[in-house]
Amino acid sequence: MRIGLIFGTRPEAIKIAPIYLKLKEMNQDTLVIITAQHREILDQVLQLFQIKPNYDLNVMSDSQTLPILSQKLIYELDNLLQKEPLDYILVQGDTTTAFIGALISFYYKIPVAHIEAGLRTNDRYNPFPEEINRRLISVIASLHFAPTQRAKENLMKEGINETLIKVTGNTVVDALHWIIDNKKDNMHQTRVKYDLDNKRYILMTMHRRENWGEPMINVLKAVRRYLSENPDMYLVFPIHPNPIVKNIVYDNLQDLENAILLEPLEYFELISLMDGCIYIMTDSGGIQEEAPSFGKPVLILRDKTERPEILETNLAKLVGTNTQTVYEYMKKFENYKLENVNFQNPFGDGKASQRITEYLIEALYSTK
Ligand code: UD1
Ligand code: UDP
Repeated sequence: MRIGLIFGTRPEAIKIAPIYLKLKEMNQDTLVIITAQHREILDQVLQLFQIKPNYDLNVMSDSQTLPILSQKLIYELDNLLQKEPLDYILVQGDTTTAFIGALISFYYKIPVAHIEAGLRTNDRYNPFPEEINRRLISVIASLHFAPTQRAKENLMKEGINETLIKVTGNTVVDALHWIIDNKKDNMHQTRVKYDLDNKRYILMTMHRRENWGEPMINVLKAVRRYLSENPDMYLVFPIHPNPIVKNIVYDNLQDLENAILLEPLEYFELISLMDGCIYIMTDSGGIQEEAPSFGKPVLILRDKTERPEILETNLAKLVGTNTQTVYEYMKKFENYKLENVNFQNPFGDGKASQRITEYLIEALYSTK
């Protein structure tokens, strides 16, 4: 019985790592297929968790378009699945790798288990193309690992049989626990390394397709105004390697002394800086799920979130990308009062990978 794991981007690797480690611990036969939709920022995660791929499809090209990326994935995965028989395939989340991975598995009639199933905004262009990717994966998958009860309800509304949906929590919380268990001593050191130990700083990331161009420029105008008026507050921005994103950030912030622009951080470094920040500004999915574990407030730089559970903790505000609105919330969040906040992370308890591997093994042996 052999389980294939197909993944290709940084967030997929972070969220699959705890499952990979658990399957190894349980001596399960796995085939790790990385598409390398991302390169450097994927390799950082593989190294950290000591993940050893069986296949590296190395598909990334500079400024890849969705059709070109999809074409390469179809070709490479087709070649691979022709020669490697698998009993189950795991995909995670809503990337192009996850969707095409599920599709080609279906063509080979290999059942697919979907990790982080059931997230929805119900707006096909927000986030783009992820909302449609995850809906399409839900149609293909035979087993759905929903991180929360709400995600399960979303799947049931789409007609998916309740017995095929398991609420497990999100594996990103398991990954965080792994960092805290294995890298705790490096966390303070990381803040010293970046000269942030005695500084008040905001942690920022932004990379989503629907924010490229005008929305991102509008947010950065607000950030610029705020940083110019508050020289004692720093902004730490590890920038996504996409040249479209990188150029906009540098063009708008590089001359400000209190804007610290960084290369993509190692996962444990990002978590260390999250632990020490005043608050976070982001359009990232994963960071919305991690922030509640540290009780950090989040300004969500998007119009919609598929993770509404974070809004119910009272730690986050969906602010969008309007310059004036973002600026006003930056001022408010500087002294954010942690009142009526629910400090329990609504996305998981650190045991998701245990549950997922148990369900998966059960499914694997009951299909044969
Ligand atoms: C992808 C996912 C998105 C996820 C994000 C996480 C899709 C459609 N999008 O978007 O859901 O939130 O990853 O970060 O699957 N690049 C590098 N080095 C790297 C990684 C990227 O140079 O290690 C550059 C390349 O020029 C590449 C570009 O970034 O062509 C875009 O990468 P791509 O995976 O297509 O899109 P993301 O915006 O990263
Ligand atoms: N992350 C990281 N280094 C960075 C920025 C982000 O390790 O410099 C981690 C972050 O903690 C989270 C994941 O990468 O776990 C999120 O990735 P991203 O924001 O690129 O994708 P998304 O979650 O939006 O799909």
